[in-house]
Amino acid sequence: MAIEWRKNFATNDPHIDEQHQQIFRFANKLEAIAEQAEVDTREVDHLLRFLETYIQNHFRYEEACMLKRRCPVAQKNRSEHLAFKGYLTRTLEVYHQNGYSQEWAQTLYSKLENWLSNHICRVDVQLSDYPERVATSKAANSN
Ligand SMILES: [Fe+2]
Repeated sequence: MAIEWRKNFATNDPHIDEQHQQIFRFANKLEAIAEQAEVDTREVDHLLRFLETYIQNHFRYEEACMLKRRCPVAQKNRSEHLAFKGYLTRTLEVYHQNGYSQEWAQTLYSKLENWLSNHICRVDVQLSDYPERVATSKAANSN
């Protein structure tokens, strides 16, 4: 089942919310591919390259936001991202060694779906309690 955007995913940061929605679109594209009996592996390669790059850029952006706003889950966020990047690297190695299989794509999709919904609802949403202006006023007060 496709992963849909829900209100409980909202971080109230328009850039991060949009980035999460873009990752959902990539994940859903992978799910659609994983349902096909015959796939164009060039399409899979293309999607995986985008997915990997996009996720890395998004993680970097989100981690910087959390640090800047002194969000208390910044370290937890970073270590969960690191663990997920490790998983992604390992599963992409398997793909490059063994080639495409429907089972591989379905497993990656369900990992993405579970990891994203779990991580966003628990960790990323905590950014909504630390909007940008709070960090700015704290910095101003400390001068
Ligand atoms: Fe995150």
